[in-house]
Amino acid sequence: MSIESGIDGWLRYSALPAEIKAAHRGYSKIVVLDKSETSPVYTAGKELQKGIKKILGQSVDISFDLSDDLSNSIVVGTTVAFAAGGDEEIATLKEDGFWLNTKARNDCVHILGQNDRGALYGAFEYLMRLAQGDFAAVAEAYNPSAPIRWVNQWDNLDGSIERGYAGPSIFFRDGEVVKDMARIAQFARLLSSIRLNAVVVNNVNANPKLFNETNLNGLRRIADTMRPWGVRIGISLYFDSPREFGGLPTSDPLDPAVNDWWKDITAKVYEKVPDMIGYTIKANSEGQPGPLTYNRTLADGANMFARALKPYGDAVVMYRAFVYNHHLEESEWKNDRANAAVEYFKHLDEEFEDNVIVQIKWGPIDFQVREPPSPLLANLRKTKAVIEFQVAQEYLGQQSHFVYMAPLWKEILDFDMRIDGKPSPIRDIVSGERLGWNRSGYTTVLNIGSDDTWIGHHLSLSNLYAYGRMTWDPCSDPTSIIQDWTRLTFSLDQTVVDTVTKISMDSWPTYENYSGNLGIQTLCDIIYTHYGPSPGSQDGNGWGQWTRANNHSIGMDRTVATGSGNTAQYPAEVAAVFENIETTPDDLLLWFHHVPYTHRLKSGKTVIQHFYDAHYEGAKHAQTFPLEWAKLKGLIDDHRFEHVAFKLKYQAGHAIVWRDSVNYFYFNKCQIPDEKNRVGNHLWRIEAQNMKLSGYKVVSVTPAEAASGGKAIITESSQASGTAETKLDFPSGTYDIAVNYYDHLGGRSKYEAFLNRQLIGSWSGNLEDKLGHDFSEYLDGHSATRITFPGVPVMTGDILKIHGQPDGTEFAPLDYVSILPEGTID
Ligand code: GCU
Repeated sequence: MSIESGIDGWLRYSALPAEIKAAHRGYSKIVVLDKSETSPVYTAGKELQKGIKKILGQSVDISFDLSDDLSNSIVVGTTVAFAAGGDEEIATLKEDGFWLNTKARNDCVHILGQNDRGALYGAFEYLMRLAQGDFAAVAEAYNPSAPIRWVNQWDNLDGSIERGYAGPSIFFRDGEVVKDMARIAQFARLLSSIRLNAVVVNNVNANPKLFNETNLNGLRRIADTMRPWGVRIGISLYFDSPREFGGLPTSDPLDPAVNDWWKDITAKVYEKVPDMIGYTIKANSEGQPGPLTYNRTLADGANMFARALKPYGDAVVMYRAFVYNHHLEESEWKNDRANAAVEYFKHLDEEFEDNVIVQIKWGPIDFQVREPPSPLLANLRKTKAVIEFQVAQEYLGQQSHFVYMAPLWKEILDFDMRIDGKPSPIRDIVSGERLGWNRSGYTTVLNIGSDDTWIGHHLSLSNLYAYGRMTWDPCSDPTSIIQDWTRLTFSLDQTVVDTVTKISMDSWPTYENYSGNLGIQTLCDIIYTHYGPSPGSQDGNGWGQWTRANNHSIGMDRTVATGSGNTAQYPAEVAAVFENIETTPDDLLLWFHHVPYTHRLKSGKTVIQHFYDAHYEGAKHAQTFPLEWAKLKGLIDDHRFEHVAFKLKYQAGHAIVWRDSVNYFYFNKCQIPDEKNRVGNHLWRIEAQNMKLSGYKVVSVTPAEAASGGKAIITESSQASGTAETKLDFPSGTYDIAVNYYDHLGGRSKYEAFLNRQLIGSWSGNLEDKLGHDFSEYLDGHSATRITFPGVPVMTGDILKIHGQPDGTEFAPLDYVSILPEGTID
């Protein structure tokens, strides 16, 4: 099998098998209705030519002349440019829409866009059908659900990416825009193929040096590179730029000099990028300055940018609703970060300029594994909004775990807010249909980096594809999206399609099961890397991602009756459902209610038993992912096969770390035993601290639940190796030997495992070279990991010995070993 890097994503245009190809008649020519090389229509012609060559093996010439003999050709252009060509009846097209007719007269294919972007989208649609061997005749109009279909990269000028897990930025390096635009063009191609029309290129935590002359010229180059693909750019602004970059004494949005400064800088930006899509603003959020810093309202701040942008066509201000106090006092029962967005924005509904759009994260807190939809989505009437998703898996395993998010997004988009007692699914609110908005839609946090995989995990790229598909048509089915993606990305083979679909569709419930259930949020470390388990970190700080877990009870009381009153922020019918514990769905119980661990769910289980069971179920199911994937060996290229196999194995091991950490934590808190007696009771496990140690010492791990038995071992010195050995008192047989150890930053320890004197495996603590998530420097839930050696014959009384060689500040840390009979997960 050939090697594939993944760089073409779902646009590989793999050659169709001969028997499928044979059914296709080929084309006489491609007629392109725009000669300008910078036009997306021209790009569409080139893309068709390239795609047909690769998919069907046919070389087709391009012509620019509609008066040619068109028989058996593909015509691509705008409806306006085509009008000269005929009287074809075309269904109504919205902005960016297109008409695809594969059975036009004279055996032609017509790809006609409402604008030039639409024509390019149509070309991609047609190619992606061909690439799946789908030659069915269509004559159909395709229209977007909403005009705004953007992505937000969180790239910093130094080349790092906030919450990026796939290498450095493709846009910036060392304070400047990169010189080489090749990856940017490839990125624009991917975005365009899924009908996304803009990218905000820099981090919402913005740097005003973006405005220096070198970078303004750099932005021009980025925009020029992306324009032929129909992708426009926007930028994030730093609110205090006038003061910190412009030398003014203030950034007060009502100060005329400040307004003039923004108008001037905006003029400079538009001189370089005349079709810039607008500005994204994060202000008064997580330490960022903003209008409130100057005793002005958020609307005063947003409107200042809106005025600066007024002269520039359809440019908009995306003003983020992610405004909250991160020094909130937890001891005050009624304090609740989830209330912040509505409290800050609702009363300003009438006050924003027409070109301001409020950008609302889909949930009230922060991209957790499960949240209800943000109530602000039902509280703005006049002010338009976009919903903000996160393709970056910040709280969902950071692309070292795989979570396919389309099912999550679908639940949110289908959620009926019942505004004024009328059907109000969120997809109709953000499309603008429900409240009569003319510019609204979608954006997502995206963390594309310069890695060949784009996103750090080949499977996770499906989330970007799905995001594009769902913003265009939010009624799309996540299952058919992943099937299409798999055919395009990997293979038309049914085993491949079924396997990837199964893993993908199971991935979110599985991750939820082992990371945080019943609406408690992702129980990761919210103070440090947002990655591995650390349930205790949610509480006792001002960030407000609280669980209020104590020895008896758990959950946020968000009711009006006894809690923070958050339920009342939803329209009456929805509020009534969440206010009442009986009608609140189990999966959001702890989001809205504070209950004893012994509270019975609708399933009949207690909360604590549900926690135990779900974590066991989730971790168990994660073990099936690498086994399922193994079926694809030989059916896809080895390179991508091995990459994904490695990651899914890692995920399976880390899912066990998650399971045990969360379960120990709550067991220690409430002391209610697991009915099935699993928690803290591991039949096949030998703790490293109980082994015979030489050159190793026992240390406590923080948090304690990140180590089996709260303790681990590290070598006594930074230089000398150590050994840990144990006699195996298990019946003779064949076992999988799992070693749980820690792999943190600071070094790459080396390990060898021996059975008697026989080497059964060696490895290195070098996951930082293979995985992209945020790494920790400590022994904790982020660094805890597992390696397994399958099928080892063991005799009762054999000696297992692990030899660890420290490196740098990583002292070959070990937690435990498990000697697992086949099929046992412990
Ligand atoms: C999260 C994330 C931050 C980010 C912020 C935002 O809190 O952890 O890195 O800056 O969201 O959306 O602005």
